[in-house]
Amino acid sequence: MAATSYNSFVAPSRRIVRLNQALADQIAAGEVVERPASVVKELVENSIDAGALRVDIELEDGGLTCIRVRDNGRGIHPDDLPLTIVRHATSKLGGPEDLVEIQTLGFRGEALASVAAVAHLCVRSRQADAEVGVELRSVPADEPRLSPAGMAVGTQVEIRGLFASVPARRKFLRSEATEVGHCSEAVIRMALVHPEVHFTLRHGRRELLNLRPGTEDERVQQLLRRRGRGPFFFLEGEDEGVRVRAWLSSPEAAARGRSAAFIVVRRRVVRERSISQIINQAYGDALPAGKSPIACVMVEPPRTTVDVNVHPQKAEVRFSEPQRVYAALRRVLGRELARAPWAGGAAVEPSVAARGDADATASGEAASGEAGPREAGRARRGRVRWRRVRWRRVRWRRVRPTPSAARTRSAAVSTAFSKMFFWTCSQGILARRTARATAGLVAAGGRGLGEPRAGATAASARRGDARRRGERDAAPGARIV
Ligand SMILES: Nc1ncnc2c1ncn2[C@@H]1O[C@H](COP(=O)(O)OP(=O)(O)OP(=O)(O)O)[C@@H](O)[C@H]1O
Ligand SMILES: [Mg+2]
Repeated sequence: MAATSYNSFVAPSRRIVRLNQALADQIAAGEVVERPASVVKELVENSIDAGALRVDIELEDGGLTCIRVRDNGRGIHPDDLPLTIVRHATSKLGGPEDLVEIQTLGFRGEALASVAAVAHLCVRSRQADAEVGVELRSVPADEPRLSPAGMAVGTQVEIRGLFASVPARRKFLRSEATEVGHCSEAVIRMALVHPEVHFTLRHGRRELLNLRPGTEDERVQQLLRRRGRGPFFFLEGEDEGVRVRAWLSSPEAAARGRSAAFIVVRRRVVRERSISQIINQAYGDALPAGKSPIACVMVEPPRTTVDVNVHPQKAEVRFSEPQRVYAALRRVLGRELARAPWAGGAAVEPSVAARGDADATASGEAASGEAGPREAGRARRGRVRWRRVRWRRVRWRRVRPTPSAARTRSAAVSTAFSKMFFWTCSQGILARRTARATAGLVAAGGRGLGEPRAGATAASARRGDARRRGERDAAPGARIV
């Protein structure tokens, strides 16, 4: 009897060979470049790392035809330009010790190399001391070309025909609107933690974002407001060296879904399910089922206790002592949410909070009594140190609508008017028809609905049947009325 194979797919027996560079690059690119939004994220990160104060992003056809990111950062040295698309070539990492305390968003030297493997790329850059810029053009699996370029100081990266040579990847992309939504979300996540930078995002002729520079508070409010109307409240605390700052909506203003919170660790907006759960749990029963608060929670553990090099897209981080971070966050949120304005607690006015550390520490200890005897004991021993705790109602600045927002609004108003006009006309026509039909019904001696009119021919009855079935009447010259 033949032996049963439990593995239905058996690879054909071949010798091991080294993949050619183009194929290896394409495989590696799959981890970094998932969709247009991943490209936007990487390019914007590079602009921020270059110290740009203005970043303009343009998309065409959801980013598939073109993604263009222009910045006013410090630019790239002309001799370095060819290295930008070489894998593991970076200006951001000096040695292994830098990785522990990495300050920049990028550090792997992979992003542009990955993009260049799956799209046409054009990088133009000029540094402040150069009279003219340099342009690099690259096509997948081809040698890049360099030429001089007239431009302002800064860098412009243009990506064309994303995944044109990888049809399998293209198939996984969603509709244009969905992809644009992802790109917009990527810019928002970046803008949230870089309020000093002016970001604009356009799709074709439409301006989707225009985030002017401001304070952190203004930027966070502006972006949270895109997710829900609020009101939002702010709290700040520190526990065992973990600093927490949070902008939180009231439970009534919570959004549907599992998490509507931005979680920021070391100036990166990251995915952290445990922290999202802690935020939801801190609201307790006040949170309606199936909803989660609209929030931005910034957690800052001691510098060397966070590893950012754990995810190819740098969308996740790892804590060296996760339980310590989670417990600290739980304590800060738990204590403060018990005194939240919506919980009927005594909200501390900004003026009261400004009285200083002594009061804040006292209030932290008092509140810690509510958090359980263990925490209370710790606080008494002085291990829980509150620097400053305050609640305040965030005051909204009236944001003047951007020209495009005004245009959208006027277009919406005119559409609504024309809809109303057509609805009124159609109601008039319907009323006249109903009146005519009722008159006919009375004249026919009150036949039932759907019955042929007295004296109607068999052909016209058949036509009526066909019409009711939604078919076109076959009789020549017949009209549907
Ligand atoms: N907009 C920009 N302004 C200035 N320099 C840039 C810009 N974009 C890229 N560079 C330079 O090109 C290099 C390669 O960029 P790339 O994004 O591929 O790698 P990285 O940012 O170093 O690391 P990562 O792969 O983690 O993003 C960067 O190290 C940087 O020196
Ligand atoms: Mg980068």
